[in-house]
Formats: sequence, structure tokens, C-alpha cells
Amino acid sequence: MSERLRRRAVLAGIGTYLPEKIVSNAEMAERVDTSDEWITERTGIRQRHFAGRHETCAFMGTEAARGALATAGIVPENVGAIILATSTPDQAFPSTAVHVQGMLGAKNAFGFDISAACSGFIYGLGIAEAMLRAGQANHILVIGSEVYSRILNFADRGTCVLFGDGAGAVLLSARDVAEDGPGILSTHLHSDGTLTDILYVDGAVGQPDKPGHLVMNGREVFRHAVTLLASAVNEALAANDLTAKDIDWLVPHQANRRIIDGVGRKLGLPQERVVVTVDQHANTSAASIPLALAQAINDGRIKPGQLVLLEALGGGLTWGSALLRM
Ligand code: COA
Repeated sequence: MSERLRRRAVLAGIGTYLPEKIVSNAEMAERVDTSDEWITERTGIRQRHFAGRHETCAFMGTEAARGALATAGIVPENVGAIILATSTPDQAFPSTAVHVQGMLGAKNAFGFDISAACSGFIYGLGIAEAMLRAGQANHILVIGSEVYSRILNFADRGTCVLFGDGAGAVLLSARDVAEDGPGILSTHLHSDGTLTDILYVDGAVGQPDKPGHLVMNGREVFRHAVTLLASAVNEALAANDLTAKDIDWLVPHQANRRIIDGVGRKLGLPQERVVVTVDQHANTSAASIPLALAQAINDGRIKPGQLVLLEALGGGLTWGSALLRM
């Protein structure tokens, strides 16, 4: 008897874009009252990329999407949907996803943006996975693209040193696979709307004043992050009847080395199985997970058949996880 197959969202391609301009901690220290030592010690960040004028959210998202399509071997006409996660869109509307659609020539797709701050990529995976399994599309681009340099308050040294710009994209394809075959095995999404005041942007186009700046209570965010992220990981493990030992790679949202290490310790995951890029990119919000995932796939660490757990937390608070077999 032939084995029963199930429809899954399989990661078929991945691409990234990083702005040309790299800004080291020492260069940040020329601009604000900080030091390489303080930033490295408290966050693990050594440098970040800052976008030039032409490197908009849509431009970077399109470049990353082109990479994802090229590695998947899929032409833009075959993309059914474009889901773009960002807090820094080019315009309030049309969505940045639709701009990306136009630039790619993905004329058979529909596109929309999602707002879930640093958890945006995980939210995008959750939505795309459900749509693919429901048969609403066969190929979906999930993109995280951010230009946080445009919303940073350079008078606030407690936040401006933490973030960077960039984009990452994956192409998810619906495939009928065996139980132990590839694809997204679970996604879990959460938010807590009583914590909107610890990480936010103090303005938007719908506000009477003007688009604003990022504001954060770093200690409060830190306190919630380790607990909520560890619980998100445990939730994903329990839902899939797994333990931390079964996970080949944890690819966390890259906010802060101390948060990443704290979650790893809580779960008993050795550092060698945790992908870290926060030193090179700083916190690129919705782009950070695909940027980290791409690096570990491209340098050969993440291999076909392995189990990879993604987790993120961001403004909202929002948080969640996605477990996938490569
Ligand atoms: N350079 C030098 N000194 C700085 C500084 C900087 N960039 N930013 C803050 N400081 C100073 C503060 O003014 C304070 O000085 P004081 O003691 O003289 O008042 C001191 O460093 C400690 O500030 P504090 O904010 O208490 O530091 P902290 O140990 O909490 O570290 C963060 C600050 C932001 C690194 C930390 O809270 C954090 O990582 N939070 C999570 C942030 C995050 O990841 N957010 C995104 C989630 S998606």
C-alpha cells in the first residue's frame, strides 16, 4: 500500500538583500554618546547596514524576492501571493507587497502587508502556510523588509544603536509529501495588547501629528522576551511531540545576543545549534529571521532533512514560532 501523503508548505527558495552601507559601532559612537564596548557587551552587535535613499522597503524586498525565486527555480508569473511583513513601508497604501509585485512582474499574484513588528516574518509564515494547505495558492513569497534607520531616534542612544536595515524572503511551495518529508510542521502566533506601551512607534500617517520614532523600555522588553520566547519554543516542541534535543537548529529573531543566549540556556540548547547574525546585522525586525536562515543554509550548516525552529518577539507585544523540516 502506498504511503499517505499530506499537503505541506515547503521552503523552496530563499533570498536576501542588505544595504551597501555598513555602519560599525565605532561609527555610531561618532554620531551618538556610546561606545563599541557598551554596544558589544550589552547586545553582541558589532555593525549594522543602513539603507541609502534608493534602498526602500519595496526595493530591498524585491531584491530578496528575486533571490528566493531564483533559488526555487520559479518564474514570477507562477507566484500566487506575496505577503510582506514590515513596520517601515514605502507608503501607507498601496501595500509594499503590491509594489514588489509590480517590480517583479508577478502579474498573477495578489499581495498584502502585515504589521506584527519583529514577529512579522513568523506571522507571514503562519498565514502563507494556512493558505497553501487550503489550496488558495501553490507558491507564496513571504518577505520581511525593514528600513528602521528611517524611524530611529538618534537622540536616544538606548535604541538607535540596536537596529539595522535589510530584507529576506522565502518562496513557499505547496507539495504533497510523506510524514517525514519537508515543510512547515507547525506555526504558533501570539500577541498581548496590554503591553503596547513598552515597544512602539510614537506616530503614524493616521495620527494628527506626524510619522514618529521608535520608543522602547528596554528592560521591560528584555524581561518579557526570554520568558515568552522560551514558552513559544516549548509550545512548538510539545505540539510536535519533540524535545529540544530533536531540534537541529534554532534560528531566533536577532534582537540581542543576551536574549538569544538566555532562551538557549533556558531550553538547554547548546550554542553550536543556535544561528546568530545579530553581530553583523543588528536587529532588522521582520527581516532578521530570513537573513539568519539564509546565511546558515548558504554556508552549509542547515542541511536537507534537518529540523529548524524559528522564533520571534516584537512590538505588540507579538511573538510566535514556526517549526520546519528542510
Ligand atoms: N551607550 C552607552 N550607554 C548607554 C547606551 C548606549 N548606547 N544606552 C544606554 N546607556 C546607558 C544608560 O543611560 C544607563 O546609564 P545610567 O546607568 O548612567 O543611567 C546604562 O547604560 C544602563 O541602561 P539600561 O537601559 O538600564 O541598560 P540595560 O542593561 O537594560 O541594557 C538594552 C539596555 C537596551 C541593551 C537592554 O535593555 C535590552 O537588550 N533590551 C531588549 C531590547 C530589545 O532587544 N528590543 C527589541 C526586541 S524585538
